[in-house]
Amino acid sequence: MNLLRRRNNTAPTGGGSPANARQGGRRGKGLRRLISAFLLLSVLAAFTRPGRRLTRAVARRLDARVECFTEPGSSTYARFFAPIFGRLYDRVAEDVIAELTSRRRAHGGLVVDLGCGPGDLVAELSRRLKETRITGIDLSPSMLLWAGRHATADGRVKFIVGDAGDLPFNDASVDLVVSTLSMHHWSYAAEVFAEIDRVLRPGGVALIYDLGLLAFTPEEMAGIATEAGLEPADIVRERAHGGIVSSFFIRYTLEGIE
Ligand SMILES: C[S@@+](CC[C@H](N)C(=O)[O-])C[C@H]1O[C@@H](n2cnc3c(N)ncnc32)[C@H](O)[C@@H]1O
Repeated sequence: MNLLRRRNNTAPTGGGSPANARQGGRRGKGLRRLISAFLLLSVLAAFTRPGRRLTRAVARRLDARVECFTEPGSSTYARFFAPIFGRLYDRVAEDVIAELTSRRRAHGGLVVDLGCGPGDLVAELSRRLKETRITGIDLSPSMLLWAGRHATADGRVKFIVGDAGDLPFNDASVDLVVSTLSMHHWSYAAEVFAEIDRVLRPGGVALIYDLGLLAFTPEEMAGIATEAGLEPADIVRERAHGGIVSSFFIRYTLEGIE
């Protein structure tokens, strides 16, 4: 199963031939049009429900155009995009620690980051949770080449190429699942949520963050929960809090069943 949306990831080829230059020019124009439409729709979106729906559709389209997770996209993401979200990772790390502490699991235990990308959140967590095992999982080997610099020699912090819809963990073995900016790529999100539910220990928790504009709507999420064998109310949707960057994010929470 390939849950990662297919993208045109190939680097430009054919050097500077006129045909390629024309094609590149058309692509650039298309992208500029898409961005202009997006900005206009964003203004409309603030006021109307159809506007918000349209903005979401354009945001998803834009995201599919600019993100790719093979080279050179992974390097671009690791160098330029991930640092923009530094404040978010700080905030998420605080939430993770608060959850682990309130569940008396702040020491030891296993935390898994789904779709960890270049590993910035894992790095932040490993700085703050010195005794916790932390595993980052991602479909993209080239993203994990970046993440690898944060791995520890003793295996406490490690990265695995894998699919969030087919997790390499035993039932009820994970204390906390976290994920940032990956969920909107899960084309089989119900399978991912079923897997999260399977691996979470009783009393564990999953915290899944995504940009509000790209995140699943409450209606989509209710369908995903049902398909995953959960009740829609089991997955709680709320606006992330704590600063300007976080305010653009939605957080989904799922508790491990006692
Ligand atoms: C936008 S990046 C986010 C990376 C990182 N979590 C962050 O916050 O910067 C999305 C990541 O999700 C990964 N991804 C998408 N679908 C996945 C899946 N089904 N299983 C594992 N990783 C996935 C992609 O390879 C990519 O690295």
